[in-house]
Amino acid sequence: MIVEDQAGVTFAVEAAMARTPDPRLREIMGALVRHAHAFVREVRLTEDEFEAGLDFLVGIGQATTATKNEVVLACDVLGVSTLVGLLNNPMGPDHTAAALLGPFWRKNAPACGLGDSIARADTPGTPLVVSGQVRDRSGAPIVGAQVDVWQASPVGLYENQDPGQPDMNLRGVFTADEQGAFHFRSVRPAGYPVPTDGPVGLLLSAQQRHPYRPAHLHFMVTAPGYKTLVTQVFADDSENLESDVTFGVIHSLLGRFETEDGPDGPRCSLVYDLVLEPGESRIPAAPIP
Ligand code: BEZ
Ligand code: FE
Repeated sequence: MIVEDQAGVTFAVEAAMARTPDPRLREIMGALVRHAHAFVREVRLTEDEFEAGLDFLVGIGQATTATKNEVVLACDVLGVSTLVGLLNNPMGPDHTAAALLGPFWRKNAPACGLGDSIARADTPGTPLVVSGQVRDRSGAPIVGAQVDVWQASPVGLYENQDPGQPDMNLRGVFTADEQGAFHFRSVRPAGYPVPTDGPVGLLLSAQQRHPYRPAHLHFMVTAPGYKTLVTQVFADDSENLESDVTFGVIHSLLGRFETEDGPDGPRCSLVYDLVLEPGESRIPAAPIP
């Protein structure tokens, strides 16, 4: 098809893609092109703006390293990750809500025994004990569920961002017992800024947005016959709950980190149950190795 004018470009591209044999790819690419062209028309994108947009895309690819996935981060701060998560894991009254995976989950965290600490070296901070039960929607325990946990340190850094922490610090995988119960020790996580040293940081400051996430623990819970639950539990007294830069906070994911005085100073505990839906157990691709 020969293009006669700007309006004709969209028809020409749609016609060129019409024979795509995979129906889902045809649907996705058709919608992507229609929306992209509508966006260009709506904002009347200039050539300079087009170049700036392309620079941003190149930049997020180039800023992605073994310790940071800037492409995932861009999707996170634009709300796309949370939207995809909530569309595919609709909230309901009887199961735990999903929250974004984020760019820092690593595969193959060390297997731990119940009660172990995921602080693999001296990690200064308030001692934390986390416990809960993994169960299904009827209340039955999910024996043997794998509870993969990861968190930032009390100064707000994941181990892979911080040369001062040992490999796999504050990460571990626990196996729920005969009652579906799990418990482990750690240190209380802090809220933290997402990385701002790349194009995403420039975008946030151009939008006058702060880069902070509230304090949270990450969980990925898997068991055969159950939909993988990827979620986060937020400290209900944390700052920035209402303005999480990645839009991950959901009321039901607020957890109470109870603090009390112990013999060596303050210590805290969190009790939070994780309820899975029936479905497919799948492991997402890891954003970093
Ligand atoms: C995280 O919670 O690990 C995270 C999520 C999105 C962006 C940066 C970090
Ligand atoms: Fe996090």
